[in-house]
Amino acid sequence: MHFFLDTADVDVIKKLAETGLVDGITTNPSLVMASGRRFDEALKEICTVIDGPVSAEVVAMDVDGMIKEGRHLAKIADNIVVKVPLTFEGLQACKTFRAEDIHVNVTLCFSAAQALLAAKAGATFISPFVGRLDDIAQDGMQLIEEIVQIYSAYDFETQILAASIRHPLHVTMAAKLGCDAATIPPKIFEQLIKHPLTDKGLDGFAKDWAKTGQTIIR
Ligand code: E4P
Repeated sequence: MHFFLDTADVDVIKKLAETGLVDGITTNPSLVMASGRRFDEALKEICTVIDGPVSAEVVAMDVDGMIKEGRHLAKIADNIVVKVPLTFEGLQACKTFRAEDIHVNVTLCFSAAQALLAAKAGATFISPFVGRLDDIAQDGMQLIEEIVQIYSAYDFETQILAASIRHPLHVTMAAKLGCDAATIPPKIFEQLIKHPLTDKGLDGFAKDWAKTGQTIIR
């Protein structure tokens, strides 16, 4: 399973990339706003740190506008994936980009029918937003389950990228369902590493080791 970070904060990306566990990045207009950076400059810098897919979202709502913006974004680096919304226009733009060999992440997916259309349009990634569904008392993970079932029935190559992750359980549940990737907010990425019993166990071992008076290397 690939781990992407859901952020446009270059310092955070640099820090967490040191784990060697960050396979890609997703950004969106809200994350760009939060970063306070110019989008193109932040993207250039992110692509020097991360070799894997870096999603950059178009903001135009019409097909021509999406295509112009997407082509522009795709020129920033070889690993840019153009992100388009799951709209009529977004799916048309997706088909055009794929014919030009530009990778596409179709975002804001909230139903299995939408995911099926994105796969038919040749999307490289589909981003089902599990957290936002949970927020309105619908089961985000059930959507992932349905998409996994549909994509495997037809051998679609579109990769399922679990998005709108709210807690570590979302990541492990997506993994259990065989999701190709999850895009994880930095805070949750760090939570995945932590467990209170690990800290407690480590503390106990450190104290007992000190009592032995030994060093591992003499
Ligand atoms: C995905 O690509 C989006 O950037 C993101 O996961 C949205 O998550 P949110 O619901 O926390 O805004």
